[in-house]
Amino acid sequence: MRKQIAAANWKMNLNAEEASNLLDEIYSKSIELSSNQMVVLSIPYIYIGEAIKKYKAKNNYFIAAQNCATTTNGAYTGEISASMLHSLGVKYIIIGHSERREFHFETNQILIQKIDRCLENNITPIFCCGEKIEIRDKREQNEFVANQIIDCLFHLNQEQIKHIVIAYEPIWAIGTGKTASSQEAEDMHKNIRLTLAQKFGDNVADQISILYGGSVKSNNASEIFSENDVDGGLIGGASLNANEFSGIINALKK
Ligand code: PGA
Repeated sequence: MRKQIAAANWKMNLNAEEASNLLDEIYSKSIELSSNQMVVLSIPYIYIGEAIKKYKAKNNYFIAAQNCATTTNGAYTGEISASMLHSLGVKYIIIGHSERREFHFETNQILIQKIDRCLENNITPIFCCGEKIEIRDKREQNEFVANQIIDCLFHLNQEQIKHIVIAYEPIWAIGTGKTASSQEAEDMHKNIRLTLAQKFGDNVADQISILYGGSVKSNNASEIFSENDVDGGLIGGASLNANEFSGIINALKK
């Protein structure tokens, strides 16, 4: 069975004390995870070192970053490289979140470089894709998202693609309180898996976890996660509350 993943995306929230408290709260919930369930906490860079130490003994919990540089180490003031993150023990990095595409002008070309830097450092990219409402209104969402997958992931080989997690996040659902219906999520996840299968074969496509993101809360997570091709979620707002996030973790398929 594919890995079932509850991934938090804290974005640019919480001061040091708040971050530390939330990490403690989530830790102390002591949620039992099965061997194919995972929790990934994508937190601001500056808190990663402390968080990794805190969670060292916690099986199947991973501390992740929300971004990394396109380049390897060198004269790039203000940047953080995948190899630095690797040296701290980071195993996952969110790549291509729509906020980075929009506010930091990250193109598919840039995302390819970031994905490659992750893989070179044994880090799994959580690759985000998803359409704006205008595209869904024209019913072009399947083709649009398939093209994001083709453009950013089709240069990878059979082995590399197995080290990718995909997060489908319709932009109209992010932070809006409006989720995709579980059927809309399932339809898109099927479309993504079919796209992957065309290049990498059914067997490989079947092993790739595809998360849904966009206004997932503890009260809608079970319905969305119960769909066949939905392997968990990427959670923004609701991941900032330990009770909410725990409810979401508990909604993962066993
Ligand atoms: P949201 O954000 O859960 O607050 O909608 C999801 C995301 O942006 O990853």
